Amino acid sequence: MTYPLLTTSHLFAPIEIGPLKLNHRVAMAPLTRSRAGQPGNVPDAMNVEYYRQRASAALIISEATQISQQGQGYAWTPGIHTPEQIEGWRAVAAAVHAEGGRIFLQLWHVGRVSHPSFQPGGALPVAPSALPAPGKTFVVDASGKGVWADVPTPQALTTAGIAEIVRDYRQAARNAMAAGVDGVEIHAGNGYLLDQFINSASNHRTDAYGGSIENRARLLLEVVDAITAEVGPGRVGVRLTPMGRFMGMGDATPAATFGYIARRLNDWPLAYLHLVEPAMVGTVKDDIVDPRWDALILDMRATYHGVVMLAGGYDARSAEKAIADGRADIIAFGRPFIANPDLPWRLRTSAALNTPDPATFFGGTAVGYTDYPKAA
Ligand SMILES: Cc1cc2nc3c(=O)[nH]c(=O)nc-3n(C[C@H](O)[C@H](O)[C@H](O)COP(=O)(O)O)c2cc1C
Repeated sequence: MTYPLLTTSHLFAPIEIGPLKLNHRVAMAPLTRSRAGQPGNVPDAMNVEYYRQRASAALIISEATQISQQGQGYAWTPGIHTPEQIEGWRAVAAAVHAEGGRIFLQLWHVGRVSHPSFQPGGALPVAPSALPAPGKTFVVDASGKGVWADVPTPQALTTAGIAEIVRDYRQAARNAMAAGVDGVEIHAGNGYLLDQFINSASNHRTDAYGGSIENRARLLLEVVDAITAEVGPGRVGVRLTPMGRFMGMGDATPAATFGYIARRLNDWPLAYLHLVEPAMVGTVKDDIVDPRWDALILDMRATYHGVVMLAGGYDARSAEKAIADGRADIIAFGRPFIANPDLPWRLRTSAALNTPDPATFFGGTAVGYTDYPKAA
């Protein structure tokens, strides 16, 4: 069976981000798969194969990758803070490049969404304030099995602790570039550390990192500043989930808070700003969509002058429309990329899509990871 090609596709028009020329606008969203090689949370041959299979994305954004041991919150997620991890990511980047693809590494610090079993010295996880996340994390028990565990009340960071985290972000970005990736994405969403600072629900500090919007955005902007200084122009993306509620997020004045951040991000030569539709910030669909979202995204789109990437529940038709309408410049696909390694070709040709199996999203073997078939 043959499929007609879209001749005037916006989704399949090329675009430049920083120094990179992308052939089209179907990006692969960051997807935690909890299958890093053990011990040491090191990308291994199976992870290399998974990314190699998906190299036809305009840009792959890697799964969230901890910048330090303190930044880990879930079992078997990869890091970028040891020599072995840098070598592991070097093999991933080389395989993607060999197929003509591009890859950014997503930099992650989970903050309070962690557990003493991951923390150096068994310490309490760190956060802006000593407020526990209303959620669980996934830890390894004594027999090596993964189990869900409550997160404890975290310790509030000192200013010296905050400065150390900014240094860890910068070092992680340096490590990522040493591994040969094309750039890095700062994960500032989904209720993890940077989001915990931004949102008034999780940040009750009274120092320079809490209270006003400027203060709550300070850590993110310090991280952006440190990382862009490290890797240079056009190679840093920032991912935000404005109005997301995952892991207890909530802000008293989201339009003002995220409007301020969108405006300030113009001060650095970023590759792109990446926003997630709020109904889809986590791995489950939230059934309440805040009616203020649409106005907020249009406002952020107008305020931020660079490339905007959007993710969350897109298909070929809605992605095409979002680009045609000017709502976004690039669309990132998450779950469709799990099940369809050749997703851009399938969208381009209206080929049928494989269905992703949520039972194999996190952890496990090659099943549900590298065994989804290509269409041709
Ligand atoms: C299994 C799974 C893992 C995810 N891991 C991450 C992650 O590591 N970093 C991140 O920013 N978002 C993560 N997300 C969110 C996705 O990037 C994306 O925003 C979300 O799945 C909505 O897009 P979709 O409807 O195309 O799947 C994850 C989602 C899923 C389903």
